[in-house]
Formats: sequence, structure tokens, C-alpha cells
Amino acid sequence: MDYKHIRTAPADALVIFGVTGDLAHKMIFPALYAMVKRGLLDVPVIGVASSKWTLAQLRKRVRDSIRQTGRIDDRAALDHLLSLLQYVSGDYNDPGTFDAVKQTLGKAKRPAHYLAIPPALFATVIRNLGTSGLAKQARVIVEKPFGRDLASARELNRVALSVFAEEAIFRIDHYLGKESIMNILYFRFANSFLEPIWNRDNVASVQITLAEDFGVKGRGSFYESAGCLRDVIQNHLFQVVALLAMEPPAYQSFAAVHSEKAKVFQAMRPLVPDDVVRGQYSGYRREPGVAKKSDVETFCALRLFIDSWRWAGVPWYLRSGKYLASTAAEVLVELKAPPQRLFDDSAPVEGRTNYLRFRLSPNSAIALAARVKCDGKAFVGEQRELLLLDEHDGAETPYERLLSDAMAGDGALFTREDAVEAAWAVVDPVLARHQPVLPYKPGSWGPKQADALIAADGRWHNPIGAKKATWD
Ligand code: BG6
Repeated sequence: MDYKHIRTAPADALVIFGVTGDLAHKMIFPALYAMVKRGLLDVPVIGVASSKWTLAQLRKRVRDSIRQTGRIDDRAALDHLLSLLQYVSGDYNDPGTFDAVKQTLGKAKRPAHYLAIPPALFATVIRNLGTSGLAKQARVIVEKPFGRDLASARELNRVALSVFAEEAIFRIDHYLGKESIMNILYFRFANSFLEPIWNRDNVASVQITLAEDFGVKGRGSFYESAGCLRDVIQNHLFQVVALLAMEPPAYQSFAAVHSEKAKVFQAMRPLVPDDVVRGQYSGYRREPGVAKKSDVETFCALRLFIDSWRWAGVPWYLRSGKYLASTAAEVLVELKAPPQRLFDDSAPVEGRTNYLRFRLSPNSAIALAARVKCDGKAFVGEQRELLLLDEHDGAETPYERLLSDAMAGDGALFTREDAVEAAWAVVDPVLARHQPVLPYKPGSWGPKQADALIAADGRWHNPIGAKKATWD
């Protein structure tokens, strides 16, 4: 039986606010093209932005985007997508803009409003959708970041919920649209062998690394307002923690999954400055849009605790950074060493204890590592990985998956109000109160203080980039 999803009626139009921006060009247009190819999009697509563009300009931009991000392999689908497009130009503060959207929507009754705009404009657009009558039977899709701290997330939720019902708010975290991350939920609860060891008695520590071997790629001014903790840890990596740490949902429904995930954030101990190491790659301050004396982190490592019966005392280490030694994301769940050392080479003296490894990107893998004896007289062994899964993700990109889910009214892979706020409550204490950033060399694994952070429980696992082995 399929897991029960949270569904509302499918949308009959898609309105994209910020259609001339980067996100639309890089992510949204290719996703729309893929959706048309699969027969998942056949409703008017209305682009809205302040630029005085013509429809022909928007169509050209869509064509460019698809050419740049892949190849045009289905002319008919592209032509169909272009025929669905319409364009409205106007200021988001001007009610006239929303009247024009209403006119353009024509007979559509259940539009999906996608806010691909700077977060500072979210509240303005949501309020205007409400006052112009465009929120009735509609839904809103909100890009991350959802707030920039606890207070702003609460305020944004307040505004959004004054106009839309919670079921009509689709908060995007594109990590939830990744196959490898959906597989964490599946793997944990479709197998019974894991549950007896999935707790403080058997798990020594959990670590998650999201490494990127490139810099801020021209997004300096965005990064200045965000930093690594807000950009990828409070959202993407916390979502991974929640899936790894949650209790089994009480019944077969994604509403139950949402509730269990929210409880993980509620049980997380709020961070203190000593739990966090912030780094900045040398050269960041010379990036366009970056302050000469910027103290914004491009690397962040942290230690956190989940104060629940299952996880009491187990440290969780999270780490991410730009310009690190590779581009890959992995989880390592380290199990405790055997209680007695019968063999000289047993862990933890040699290498790692047994572990489960989840590779999240660029491909999906799940591996279980255990020691086996090597051939010969001596009782000496080695740690081998049993690879349960090692695949490239399917053709569906996270944006395609999430956008088509939102259009279909399926809220399973989106984040809920209580979870977002509880996650902000964990990081809130260290957003303003923290140590200054420590410099690190591009191509390294960040400042050495990050190694000291984990030292009491072992060492970081450094995932290797694409097409190479995945050992340390
Ligand atoms: C985005 C961040 O949300 O996630 C980027 O803004 C980051 O800075 C990206 O590079 C990572 O996502 P992915 O899917 O490439 O691992």
C-alpha cells in the first residue's frame, strides 16, 4: 500500500513570482520542461516580475535556460511549455499587479503561487495575494530560507497563516525531494533489523558532511545575509537528522511523519557557541558583494544533542562548507565498539568501528561496514563495506518532484510550521553569539578547530567526490 499522502485538489494554474530571476532560470524552467515531458503540467504558467519584459522575452529566457541546463530533446514539449506561458510585469507593492494576475488567471480557480523572490518580499506578496482575493482555493509555494531566525520565521508563519491554511502552504526544502534522502525514511522503517540497534545503546555518534569544492559562485551578497549555518545546515542537514532520528510514525500517513520530525527538533538541545566552529575560505572577502571585513561563515561544523530516550548522550556532528576538498554529502552512523577487545586489530584501535553509511549526493548509496578476518594464521581482519545500494538518482530532479507534488496538492515532502520554528529555536542562540570565523585554505577540509570539535568521539569521515571510491 502506498504511504498516505496529505492531499488537496490539484492546482489549475501556476503563478511564478520572480520569474526573471536566477532560481527560475537555473531550477524552475528545467523542472517545468521535465514536467511537461512527463505529462505532469498542462495548465497556464503566469510569470510575474517587476522587469518590463514582453512574453517573447520570457519565452526566450525559458528556451535559454533549458538549453543551458541540459538539452532540448523534445521540441513538442518545449513548444507546449512556451504556449502555456504568460507574463505580468508590476511592482509587488502595487495592488494593480495582483489585479493584472487575476485577469490573466481567467477561469483558473485553484492557482499555485510560487514565491521565487527574495525572502524580504515574501510577506508583502502573501498579504497582497490575500487582499486581492487571489488566495481563495489557492496554495502558496515558498522557497527557502523560511525566515532568517526564530522571530522572523514566526512572523512569516503568522502572515502566511493569516492568508492560507497550513495545508495550502508548501515550504520548499529541496533536500526532501532527493531520492537518497527519501530512502532514509524508507530504509529505516521498511526493515526490522535496524530498530534494535538504532539508539543510544548501540550508536556511538552520527556525523553528516555536505561538502562542496566550489565557492559562493557569484552569490556573495546572498551569502553575506545568510552564511553556511542558515544556508544549508538549519534546513537541509537538519531535515536529514530528523529523518535519521525520528521515532516510527504511529500510523501510515505523512502527517504522522511530519509530527515525528517536529518532535526531533523540539528535543534538540539549543546550540551554544562552543558547539560551533565557523570558518571562512581565504579569498571569500574578495568575492563580489562581500564585505572587506566579513565575518560570515562559508564553513560550519557543529555538535548537537537530541535529548530524547532514544538519543540521550549520542553526539551528532554536522559539517558543511564551500571550497572544501570534494563535492559530496554523506552520513556516517558509527556503532559502538565491541565491549571486549579479543583481537589486537579490533576497532577502535584500528580505523573505525562498524558503521552505516548513507551517501546522499552526488549519488545514492547505503553501506554497512563490518570487520571480517583476513586469510591466514593470524586473527587479523579488515573492515569491509556491504553495499546495499549504489545508484545514480533517477531522472526526476528534486525541483521537478517537489513542484509537481505541490501542483498535485501533495504536502508530504514539504516542511511544516512547527518543525521550521523548532529548528530555528535550536540555532537561534548562536546566530548572533559566536566565535569569529577562522580562515581555511580552499581545497582543505576547513579549519583544524573542526577536527578538535569531534576529537573526543573520533574523526571526521571525508566523503570522496564523484567517480572515486568512497573510503576515507
Ligand atoms: C542550496 C544552497 O540550498 O543548496 C547552496 O543555497 C548549496 O549554497 C545547495 O550549494 C546544495 O544543494 P545540492 O542539491 O547541490 O546538494
